[in-house]
Amino acid sequence: VTPRWTSADVPAQDDRVAVVTGANAGIGLEVATVLARRNATVVLACRDIERATSAAAQIRRSAPTAVVETVRLDLADLASVRDAAAQIRIRHPRIDLLIANAGVLLPSQHFSTDGFELQLATNHLGHFALVGLLLDRMTSVPGSRVVGVTSFLQAIGRLRVDDLDRTRRSARLSSYAQSKLAVTTFATELQRRLEEADVPTIALTAHPGSSATDIARHIPRVERALAPLAPVLQQGVGVGALSLLRAAVDPEARGGELYGPRGPFQWRGHPTRVRAPRRSRDREMARRLWGESERRTGVEIRVTTPVA
Ligand SMILES: NC(=O)c1ccc[n+]([C@@H]2O[C@H](COP(=O)([O-])OP(=O)(O)OC[C@H]3O[C@@H](n4cnc5c(N)ncnc54)[C@H](OP(=O)(O)O)[C@@H]3O)[C@@H](O)[C@H]2O)c1
Repeated sequence: VTPRWTSADVPAQDDRVAVVTGANAGIGLEVATVLARRNATVVLACRDIERATSAAAQIRRSAPTAVVETVRLDLADLASVRDAAAQIRIRHPRIDLLIANAGVLLPSQHFSTDGFELQLATNHLGHFALVGLLLDRMTSVPGSRVVGVTSFLQAIGRLRVDDLDRTRRSARLSSYAQSKLAVTTFATELQRRLEEADVPTIALTAHPGSSATDIARHIPRVERALAPLAPVLQQGVGVGALSLLRAAVDPEARGGELYGPRGPFQWRGHPTRVRAPRRSRDREMARRLWGESERRTGVEIRVTTPVA
């Protein structure tokens, strides 16, 4: 039996900088806390600066010597993504980890500030832009990683690059699934381009299975209905966060891999390498998604070999 991978397996992170999006709650807060306890400098990139500040205070209580910073980042507003990236660039000439964790599921609002379907905008497009604006701070850093955060629901996702904003009410779950398939498709293509450019940075993905966070806050009826089943259906945040941590720091992890819970249906359990949907490896689709993401965000991602 393979031993369980736990937070005790997270190596020391001294002198490393980790940017975690959506780090004020749920999985992101847990990931940032564990990294801070291992001495990483963590940047909490969150849309509400008060929530970010109180998360930072909470992390400092459990990791008193940690350097914990905050930056305001609203992924559903590309101007905010640009501001956040600019602030991070001023503070950090090198970034080791970019953990694109923030996400939204079935929100009542349909469109982002820039007019895109909100789940696609938050979960994929905002992170695409953030990666593009920070990548050159990573490409000369050995061991640096971009971690995209997907969901087991990506398995039912279909990318329709010509119709990314599907807004019929009945299409909202499929929009979420599409956004999470986009996360993996983008990370897989990014990894190909990093490899082709002979860059030390790797890109990979992780998902937390079914974890007991507030992710269903926008669908209270479903949340209430499922509450009695939660102990069976969901795992604790501590275990859910391990997939992201493993993708971020396990020395054995390789670019292009996906980490998720090892239990049935990848719902619960300690993290292991799992199979991504075959569709996420469709290179033609990945190229189209990349081009459309550049067009919508106005951020072009050029992966170039760092100057020695
Ligand atoms: N929990 C699960 O069972 C599950 C399953 C599969 C995948 N996931 C994925 O895991 C990741 C973490 O989710 P979670 O379960 O920890 O949910 P959560 O507790 O709801 O946390 C989501 C985080 O994303 C942030 N966020 C939402 N919209 C944002 C925006 N426009 N700009 C910046 N930040 C934004 C939230 O900020 P606010 O606090 O300001 O709203 C919060 O910090 C998400 O990508 C989610 O899709 C979760």
